[in-house]
Amino acid sequence: MTYKPFDLTGKVALVTGGNRGIGYGMAEALAQSGAAVAIWGRDAKRNDEAVAALSNETKGKVKGYAVDVADETAVSAAMAETLDDFGRVDFAVANAGIGGGAASFSEFPTDVYRRVLSVNLDGVFFTLRETCKHMVERAKAGDPGGSVVGVASLAAIEGAARNEAYAATKGAVISMMKSIAVEHARYGVRANAVLPGWIATDMTSMAQAAPAFAEKVIPRVPMRRWGEPKDFGGVAVYLASDASAYHSGDLFVIDGGYAIF
Ligand code: NAI
Repeated sequence: MTYKPFDLTGKVALVTGGNRGIGYGMAEALAQSGAAVAIWGRDAKRNDEAVAALSNETKGKVKGYAVDVADETAVSAAMAETLDDFGRVDFAVANAGIGGGAASFSEFPTDVYRRVLSVNLDGVFFTLRETCKHMVERAKAGDPGGSVVGVASLAAIEGAARNEAYAATKGAVISMMKSIAVEHARYGVRANAVLPGWIATDMTSMAQAAPAFAEKVIPRVPMRRWGEPKDFGGVAVYLASDASAYHSGDLFVIDGGYAIF
């Protein structure tokens, strides 16, 4: 007999940036565990491809929404549409994010700073504000519960040189998740942060191609390899499931041991 709480049948999961990378790794595991999955991403074509791939391997409903999470109005509209289509949201992962560094902090362009903040911080704020609004209304109507996740980064807790804007957004996501956790516990809603280490996705394509990285960074990862999107399936399923009903306000560092070595 399998452990029942990991069966997500009947639950609805929303993953922003779920059309590729870490978000796709989460969406795939959620769908395979029985959840219906809504994917929000900027690129409609990529959304369609992800939905087609997920629909092939799972039975549950999967749908994509073209939405820029940095756009407050678009996020509200997408949440209304998602709720119309699925009836509810039980789990939301605010994963959409962009990189954006500079040659040095003293030369950090303001437009890059603003753009990184708008996606990585505003985007998480808008997405989870809409999600929590729905979960609180649902709880007040007699149906409490839910789980929300912000995808942060090791950059939040380690010094990320030439990456001050990105690091600041990720530190802020951790703080936001802790605040959401305390405020929403009374509604049965948990809030946690996931901190990926070095993961092989489009975001890190330059690092993956850099010999210095292969020689100096990856050998420092105790697991001796790049992380992969599928390494995030387990934490997504756990946090979406009733198995994590008493787990809130925490940081899940998924980095092959890099932060402790
Ligand atoms: P990726 O570049 O492969 O995927 C990013 C996803 O976010 C894509 O689906 C993209 O369409 C979406 N996205 C970007 N801007 C958007 C916007 N304005 N509106 C809606 N969707 C948007 O990146 P990856 O690596 O999968 O990153 C996912 C999250 O994990 C990000 O928040 C990133 O900061 C974080 N992370 C990644 C690490 C890595 O090594 N790859 C390390 C630490 C954190």
